[in-house]
Amino acid sequence: MNYDKKTIRDIDVSGKKILLRCDFNVPHDKATGIIHDDTRIVSTLPTIRYLLEHNAAVILLSHMGRPHGEWKKELSLFSARDHLEKLLGLSIPLTKDVLGPDTKAKCAALQPGQAVLVENLRFRIEEEQNDPDFARELASLADIFVFDAFGAAHRAHASTEGVSHYLPSVAGFLVEKELNFMGKALEEPKRPLVAILGGSKVSDKIGVINNLLQKADTILIGGGMAYTFQVALGRSIGTSLLDAGHVNYARDMIQKAKDMGVTLLLPQDNLATQDFSADAQPVLVEVDQFPENLMGMDIGPKTIESFTAAIQGAGTVVWNGPMGVFEFPAFAKGTNAIAGAMAQQKDAITIVGGGDSASAVEQSGMADQFTHISTGGGASLEFLEGLTLPGIACLEDK
Ligand code: 3PG
Repeated sequence: MNYDKKTIRDIDVSGKKILLRCDFNVPHDKATGIIHDDTRIVSTLPTIRYLLEHNAAVILLSHMGRPHGEWKKELSLFSARDHLEKLLGLSIPLTKDVLGPDTKAKCAALQPGQAVLVENLRFRIEEEQNDPDFARELASLADIFVFDAFGAAHRAHASTEGVSHYLPSVAGFLVEKELNFMGKALEEPKRPLVAILGGSKVSDKIGVINNLLQKADTILIGGGMAYTFQVALGRSIGTSLLDAGHVNYARDMIQKAKDMGVTLLLPQDNLATQDFSADAQPVLVEVDQFPENLMGMDIGPKTIESFTAAIQGAGTVVWNGPMGVFEFPAFAKGTNAIAGAMAQQKDAITIVGGGDSASAVEQSGMADQFTHISTGGGASLEFLEGLTLPGIACLEDK
């Protein structure tokens, strides 16, 4: 996939109506609308501000949740709109329908320097179906399509890909940044490139491991998925998470890493417990003496030390997936230690590939010490797998 896409800097937006696809699908309280993490909204502000300051009229588009064509009050974009109004200090009307008379009237009346937000596009089933008539009608509201919804770039929907068939289509600043770091930095990395993978299931990371084996010098595997790799090496894992269907795959990957000269490090020790509970007493176990009745919940101190040493020697570090059950404070040490080790690497390019590890870094308060924290969940994973993302592929090349 070509990462050199035209952006809003490369075109004249003055006096134009812009369809700006954002990803305002933020975690929020369904009853009160209170937003728990506004990173995705804040990350789009530079694009919105640039367009408004350059005399464009901005029609903001987003989805929220998965209503599959049904109008669901709890998935309205009203709280995202309220939050945006506060952040921008600007009144932003929210349409009462999706591409109905209210949307059309509000978009027709929109003047340069003003913005309007169209209600959750997924309230219309045609959005996810990438219906060409729906996409054409959406496109008819504006002169230019700007894509800044990196989190939804892996979806070929009407507002992410469909509209690009009818309008000049360029990237916003968030997508440009994601392409620079998730794309170019991994394509031609400052070496050594160290990849850290965690999370619970091997099956979620197969494509990522396959792709990173071609690119990385060292791969560190922690989190729930590491236990399947330990079983592949003939070790016992007590009652820890096992992805039984992927033991052979894990064995093949260990062999492939050897054949390709990639260093693959697994945990040497773990914090384990009897029950999956926040107040369970942690027991430190060595991976070659894992008690039958315990389950691994985090990486242990020796592992933290060896993973940290690998990170310290890196030119580029990319991380996806927590090292343990970080939602429980007693088992967040490993995940926090990785975040801390990466944050200290001032001369390295440090990239967090979205999802749970991105939330862990945001929670740790160290986010500003990283080169890039991706706003994508599924989109980042597909990116790390080396797949083509439809929302990006459809944008004009430079
Ligand atoms: C996300 O949260 O990963 C994006 O907003 C995409 O949402 P989706 O998985 O419902 O398409």
